[in-house]
Amino acid sequence: MLTLGIESSCDETAAAVVEDGLRVHSNVIASQIETHRKYGGVVPEIASREHLEKIDEVVTEALHRAGVGIAQIDGLAVTQGPGLVGSLLVGINYAKGLAYAARKPIVGVNHIEGHLYSTVFEHGAPEYPALALIVSGGHTNLFLIPEPERYKLVGRTRDDAAGEAFDKVSKLIGLGYPGGPVIDRLARQGNRRAIVFPLAEIKDPDHRLDFSFSGLKTAVLRHVREQQLPPVADPAAPSADILDLCASFQNAVVRALVRSLRKAAEEHAPRTILLAGGVACNSELRAAVTQLAAELKVPVHIPSPIYTTDNAAMIAAAGYPKLLRGECAPWLMSAEVSWRIQNVDVESVKKKVRYRL
Ligand code: KG4
Ligand code: ZN
Repeated sequence: MLTLGIESSCDETAAAVVEDGLRVHSNVIASQIETHRKYGGVVPEIASREHLEKIDEVVTEALHRAGVGIAQIDGLAVTQGPGLVGSLLVGINYAKGLAYAARKPIVGVNHIEGHLYSTVFEHGAPEYPALALIVSGGHTNLFLIPEPERYKLVGRTRDDAAGEAFDKVSKLIGLGYPGGPVIDRLARQGNRRAIVFPLAEIKDPDHRLDFSFSGLKTAVLRHVREQQLPPVADPAAPSADILDLCASFQNAVVRALVRSLRKAAEEHAPRTILLAGGVACNSELRAAVTQLAAELKVPVHIPSPIYTTDNAAMIAAAGYPKLLRGECAPWLMSAEVSWRIQNVDVESVKKKVRYRL
């Protein structure tokens, strides 16, 4: 069964053709990073316009690289949320138009659920229960997955997402957007013990696996002011103080993430640990999670960078079981900008925000 996945929730326009939810026939990603770099972050209005310009080309290319036409596709899976409303609507409406014209079933996929499926291409399906840490520019979540498609949110960020912390700190010291890749690179040359940033303590016993990164960001700001560190003028030749700051900041983020992951693993005894989302590209985090998993003797699935950052192969994989069951979204399907996934032990379901054209 061939699924065409379409993703446009943030600043990547992506399309992919995936067979049986596992074998990637094509995975095309048009990134807008260069467009948004000069603004120091994603500008939603510009993002939607660029999606609109690229989507047809990207989908056509994905079909072309897979060597198929739309007639050979069995179903479509499109990111329905969460994300930027204008960006989401471009993908959703394009996908609906294509599905309608080609008479194919279509399902809406939660972007976070997509990230949870990003490990299957290189590692196969996880053994359950699985414990997943999803770390990206917009999300930092810990999910317990007792069985396929069942999710319990056991930890989340109370303020900034981990990637957002990287991006804000990077901007603060003059390293630009996105911050993760550059801080990761510079941190390798710095001393991670140079500055001891304390980790946030979540006092609430019911949410002790939660994360908080805004205090860390403020601590970096205070350090920069106290030490009177000038913004980096030449990213190719940063000062030793900047290298140490990058290494110490990154280490604090990684310690916070791994601390909760360890507690959750000890509590829930997972049979697989999953790490996904853009921040899963981070070399120190990958190494720390790999080491934790080895210590706990639990297999760990961490995708290659091409699948950790936003892509449509993961959306196709997440849509596959739904299409296989014969699900098909109504034509009224629209963006769910703050769609959460939690379908185990749901205590309070937050009202969904619904946008229509
Ligand atoms: O998953 P993603 O592509 O988009 C969202 O859904 O947010 O994640 C993008 C985020 C950005 O904040 C970026 O700075 C971060 O992932 N990132 C990294 C690294 N590469 C990307 N953070 C830390 N280390 C990296 N190597
Ligand atoms: Zn994402």
